[in-house]
Amino acid sequence: MKADIMPKKRINVELGERSYPIITGSGMASSFAAACRRYRISDTVVIITDRNVARLHLKPLLNVLRGGKFKPLVIVIPAGEEQKKLESADRIYTLMLKKKIPRSAAVIALGGGVIGDLAGFIAATYQRGIKLVQVPTTLLAQVDSSIGGKVGVNHILGKNMIGAFHQPVFVWMDAEYLKTLPKREMICGLGEVIKYGAIWDPGLFAYIERNLEKILKYDTGALRHIQFACAAIKAGIVSMDERESGIRAILNFGHTIGHGLESAGDYKILKHGEAVILGMAGEASIAKKMKMLDANSFEKFLSLIRRIPIRADLKSLKPGDITSAMGRDKKRVDKKLRFILPVKIGKVKIADNVQKKLIQQAVKEILKGN
Ligand SMILES: NC(=O)c1ccc[n+]([C@@H]2O[C@H](COP(=O)([O-])OP(=O)(O)OC[C@H]3O[C@@H](n4cnc5c(N)ncnc54)[C@H](O)[C@@H]3O)[C@@H](O)[C@H]2O)c1
Ligand SMILES: [Zn+2]
Repeated sequence: MKADIMPKKRINVELGERSYPIITGSGMASSFAAACRRYRISDTVVIITDRNVARLHLKPLLNVLRGGKFKPLVIVIPAGEEQKKLESADRIYTLMLKKKIPRSAAVIALGGGVIGDLAGFIAATYQRGIKLVQVPTTLLAQVDSSIGGKVGVNHILGKNMIGAFHQPVFVWMDAEYLKTLPKREMICGLGEVIKYGAIWDPGLFAYIERNLEKILKYDTGALRHIQFACAAIKAGIVSMDERESGIRAILNFGHTIGHGLESAGDYKILKHGEAVILGMAGEASIAKKMKMLDANSFEKFLSLIRRIPIRADLKSLKPGDITSAMGRDKKRVDKKLRFILPVKIGKVKIADNVQKKLIQQAVKEILKGN
């Protein structure tokens, strides 16, 4: 068995009796079974994954679990956001019930955010809730969706509308998984990574400015750096505000316009992370026009964002569709659009008073590409 390549580092999500560790590292598959034992995962585990991840990464994990005397049931579903729905959950419940999976079992979510959200939702609801282990395999899932316990599925009337808060027992974050990620998925994750720098950590923002090319070349050291820095920020914010009644809202920087862009393209033109990158540019522009952000910092934002190779073709997106889709986002407070606006690199403020005109201008700027 291959030994771990780099020492593991732990981050704790502090939530009283629901506290849990995020174990980060690279090439650490061989110690997964030992970690499951250490965190009292019982012998029966249900690995839920998608076809792409199964092809690339299932076997080593399965071998290690079997070697550690676990009894894994493997459920592989097609890849893609369309799978994040109640019908998929229902099919998985049926398989689990037929196999008489007991309440003492744990779900292991091996995959990106789609698998993490869906498998997490199954863990939250199967027989009123069973244990969950998150094994995120995309950059987005590592830095964002696997931490914080938000799980759920989409409804035809809205994304992520059916769900729960269900914290995992631990998160197993292996940078090695990222090596097989398609470039476009890497860029999507990078959107959230830049967001953490922008809302919380000027040092991280500067690191990305200096190391963007390394990150885009899948350099292990650079990936480990951003993985650890972002997971620590998300863990800290979730520890302060598990249910998003306060500070957790700042994680939505770039997301108000981002959701509008994603939704106006019917989720086909832009992927979430790409929409967030463009959304951050738009929201930074609003902040500059509202004199909350100085011109210098705005230029820093824009020049980093311009260096990210987003290939999507925005021609078919209509400004009116984007702004009206923004209004349909569930994060809206009392019918007012809520924006998280940067005041400098590393600090944001919540704004509920952004004029419609400024929003329209920002959307037009994005579509024009400036
Ligand atoms: N729960 C939360 O807090 C939260 C936060 C942000 C996003 N999300 C959700 O996350 C989802 C998006 O997640 P995502 O971007 O990870 O998408 P995804 O899960 O669809 O993964 C993207 C693609 O990459 C493939 N893939 C995954 N790991 C791979 C690997 N290591 N190598 C090669 N291919 C791999 C997948 O099969 C898929 O085709 C959305 O549904 C979104 O709502 C949830
Ligand atoms: Zn996001």
